Amino acid sequence: MKKIIIRNFEPNDAASAAEIIRNNLLTINARKYPEQIIQNLIKIYSADDLIRQSSNKTMIVAIMNDKVIGIGSLLNDFISTVFVNIHHHGTGIGRKIMNTLELIAKENNIKTISLHASINAINFYEMQGYQVVSNVESEDFGKSILMKKDLL
Ligand SMILES: CC(C)(COP(=O)(O)OP(=O)(O)OC[C@H]1O[C@@H](n2cnc3c(N)ncnc32)[C@H](O)[C@@H]1OP(=O)(O)O)[C@@H](O)C(=O)NCCC(=O)NCCS
Repeated sequence: MKKIIIRNFEPNDAASAAEIIRNNLLTINARKYPEQIIQNLIKIYSADDLIRQSSNKTMIVAIMNDKVIGIGSLLNDFISTVFVNIHHHGTGIGRKIMNTLELIAKENNIKTISLHASINAINFYEMQGYQVVSNVESEDFGKSILMKKDLL
């Protein structure tokens, strides 16, 4: 397997990361969510918004051959923005991003970590040790699932 580097997000990564997110939303997430929800999500993950978000949270990217192929973020005890280039799904990148974010949380003395899983990603998070807590309903962003994991 090609070498994957995980490093902090930089503003130069924003356009590629936004494109990865958009492609996922329009193909994978669109199988489970209505068109209007997908469009709302695309808006909050624009390149400019990613740059803005990166100023108040930990944002990391996965790099292969100098190209961004995945992204994830952490704010205190909450993980979000986990997306992997659709052509690299199932090759361990998502797990690597999650492991890195959990390690950063542990270093910050976080004991339990949470996230809002898209319906299409629940099984992925269960495989990473997360447990379903409750349903979350949002008018703008549809249904997601609050999941938690104790960091040992
Ligand atoms: C969910 C996502 C981040 C997973 O990333 P990935 O790089 O494909 O996942 P990995 O290859 O690291 O998978 C780790 C394990 O989970 C499994 N897995 C990955 N995605 C899965 C899914 N959607 N359903 C069930 N299992 C899944 C893999 O088969 C792998 O299993 P293994 O350990 O037996 O090999 C990626 O599919 C994605 O970007 N999805 C669309 C965007 C999205 O919904 N993100 C989550 C927002 S909350």
